[in-house]
Amino acid sequence: MKVLVIGSGGREHALVRKISQSERVDEVFVIRGNEAMAQEATVVDIAENDHESIVNFAKEHAMDLVVVGPEQPLIDGLADRLTAAGIKTFGPNSNAAQMEGSKDFAKALMAKYNIPTAKYQTIDNKDEALEYVKTHGTPIVIKYDGLAAGKGVVVAMDDEMAIDAINDFYAEEGAKVVFEEFLEGEEFSLMVFVNDDFCIPFDTIAQDHKRAFDEDKGPNTGGMGAYCPVNHISEDIIERTNNEIVYPVVQAMHQENLNYFGILYVGAIVTAEGPKVIEFNARFGDPEAQVLLRRLDTDLIELIEAVERKEAIDLVWRNKTICGVVLASKGYPASYKKGHIVEGYDYQSDYIASALKRENGQWITSGGRVMIALGEGNDLAEAQKNSYQLVENIKSNGLFYRKDIGNKGL
Ligand code: AMP
Ligand code: GLY
Repeated sequence: MKVLVIGSGGREHALVRKISQSERVDEVFVIRGNEAMAQEATVVDIAENDHESIVNFAKEHAMDLVVVGPEQPLIDGLADRLTAAGIKTFGPNSNAAQMEGSKDFAKALMAKYNIPTAKYQTIDNKDEALEYVKTHGTPIVIKYDGLAAGKGVVVAMDDEMAIDAINDFYAEEGAKVVFEEFLEGEEFSLMVFVNDDFCIPFDTIAQDHKRAFDEDKGPNTGGMGAYCPVNHISEDIIERTNNEIVYPVVQAMHQENLNYFGILYVGAIVTAEGPKVIEFNARFGDPEAQVLLRRLDTDLIELIEAVERKEAIDLVWRNKTICGVVLASKGYPASYKKGHIVEGYDYQSDYIASALKRENGQWITSGGRVMIALGEGNDLAEAQKNSYQLVENIKSNGLFYRKDIGNKGL
């Protein structure tokens, strides 16, 4: 069969690689992809937001399946258009993708169906927001109600931070902002394959590192590294997460006629009262996909087909730990320079590129998160050591990385 992947980042590179390994697949295409993917797929030069050309391409080349990687095209309705054109698409429709696209939408659904999460209030004017923070105090979590690539969330530890965030978010005309109770505990990411009222949750979890700097300092980012499995978060917590969050939210989405078909990313936190939802995403995590798919033995296409048929499938994981360290452009998630030369990368499968491009026979940086080094080991300590060895082999003066990816599990 022929499969088209949409997206150009590290998650999509991981998807392309995993799909190209499927015995069921003859050819993989990727729009718009990046040059590092060219060994595993045909990179097609169509813009990710040019939905009409994407639909035409998928029709003309008779794609059997389209897998949408990032959230933006889902929220903008690419899956709706592909499905309407008769092309099977793994990725939710635009209404269902609001689970990620609107914090207020997701919070309201959780409130309606009693799904454990932080208490919240959505406020659409600045004076009320300032008043709210005065009454509720800090720490408080302030979230822009829209897509912000993981950067629209401020965990305000004091009043000054809260007021700065309020000034910042409400500077935009008509802004809606969600204020949340601050939760404390360890976070983890659980991927769930969903088809309407049926789901297959991964029976292994990953842990992301959202802050830019070591020891969870600095601003939130899209994710600076991840590892799996996460052995110090117990089976019991995973079971509770499935029973108290995953199955109820899948039924809730079904009740609301969202007709969800795709991956639901459950970002959860282990509080003293049990697991609670921090956020939902309408797609695979990045960098979680890179470590999870490296560890997954089960054929991804067979998994997607099983969930489509609403049939259970045994998930098989390699008996290894994977640790992924992201190399990002200095300055990310704020402004950064592109075009730095990167040495040491030559399509080795231990790296996945997200923003590397070829120029004059060299690799140069072309975005914020540039690549991930994937170390593998018999335990986390070994995987971590191997990942940092791979990081050391990359030479560039435009990149930085966290030195503590995986420490929480050691
Ligand atoms: P989100 O984009 O909603 O996942 O938020 C990004 C990050 O902000 C999360 O991974 C958490 O580290 C932090 N965060 C979000 N909501 C809360 C909360 N209610 N309490 C504490 N930390 C939070
Ligand atoms: N790594 C977090 C995310 O994909 O949203």
